[in-house]
Amino acid sequence: MPPHVKMNNKAEMLKRLEQGSVPDDELRRLIRIELGRRLQWCQQKPTYEEQTADILSLVKSLRQMGIASGSDHLNSEMYDMPISFLKTTFGKLLKESGYYFKDESMTLDEAEEAILDLYCERAQLKDGQKVLDLGCGQGAFTLHVAQKYKDSHVTAVTNAATEKNYIEDQCKIMGLSNVEVILEDIAKLTMKTTFDRIIAIGLLEHMKNYGLLLQNISQWMNPAESLLFIDHVCHKSFAYKCEPLDENDWFAEYFFPPGSFTMISASFLLYFQDDVSLVDHWILSGKHFHRTGEEWLKKLDANLEKGKEILGSKFGSKEAALKEINHWRGLCMFSSETFGYNGGEEWMNSHLLFKKK
Ligand SMILES: C[S@@+](CC[C@H](N)C(=O)[O-])C[C@H]1O[C@@H](n2cnc3c(N)ncnc32)[C@H](O)[C@@H]1O
Repeated sequence: MPPHVKMNNKAEMLKRLEQGSVPDDELRRLIRIELGRRLQWCQQKPTYEEQTADILSLVKSLRQMGIASGSDHLNSEMYDMPISFLKTTFGKLLKESGYYFKDESMTLDEAEEAILDLYCERAQLKDGQKVLDLGCGQGAFTLHVAQKYKDSHVTAVTNAATEKNYIEDQCKIMGLSNVEVILEDIAKLTMKTTFDRIIAIGLLEHMKNYGLLLQNISQWMNPAESLLFIDHVCHKSFAYKCEPLDENDWFAEYFFPPGSFTMISASFLLYFQDDVSLVDHWILSGKHFHRTGEEWLKKLDANLEKGKEILGSKFGSKEAALKEINHWRGLCMFSSETFGYNGGEEWMNSHLLFKKK
């Protein structure tokens, strides 16, 4: 199908996806077509002058929004899944964002550990620091730091109760007493203390008003030598709200709850330096998240029956479990195809280090 031809029946496509009747090869091809449409849409303004004006218009529009507008359904649909199910897909630390395949021969678990070490290096972590992990997931980074730096203290924040409970259980099992987990919406979070390092991995994608968020974060940064490290997925130059391109756009609706995801560009956060200023900036090729998606899918497929059983108990029926599994498999393919597009040179990860102003 040439890139300009649209799936002309969104409802039909969504139904087929839920039933799992779209073969993997076809789904991957349709994802690539939709990614191509996004690029065409971003490039419809042919000059860099106009494209930059579009980016600035998005910056201004996000500044008018709430910190986390549009992410209300995220947890029920994505981040409150049974831990036993997450174990069927993710690496052993249950990190739910991209890994770092520093060497091609690395396993999923090794690449998961490698990205956590890369964060520690880039965020200049040292023992004895007070660390804040915003949007902590299953605590991959929190537990890694708390274990590696015994005299550090890590405060982890999530708004998903399953994640908080899991991290607290892991702390008991691992004998860690240097971790505290706060259950709170980042948009409403207040802090009575300050931190030496603040980390946000895979969180900014779900936020809107980066100005207000960074203003709040700057107030939680220790005035002396504190640093903020951010890892977010991005397009190398375009930024867009993940909204439907037309009335038949299945792609904008299927993978994430509509309105819950913003694809910012690699340098987008540099427009939000009112309260923090840039210290360093790195790009991690899309190849790493592409491989992560492939490895997640392989693991999930090897555990498919177990996954169906776990989700059957959670959602109460075989049909509902199948719908979830199909969605989860689709997400793995979405990650692989998005970050593998054009050899990892379109969508990728941006790592930024800021200091307090
Ligand atoms: C892509 S996951 C990344 C998790 C973790 N940092 C990792 O890399 O494994 C996004 C995380 O952000 C959390 N999150 C999203 N929106 C949030 C909000 N408004 N308040 C608090 N946490 C939020 C989710 O619960 C989830 O833990």
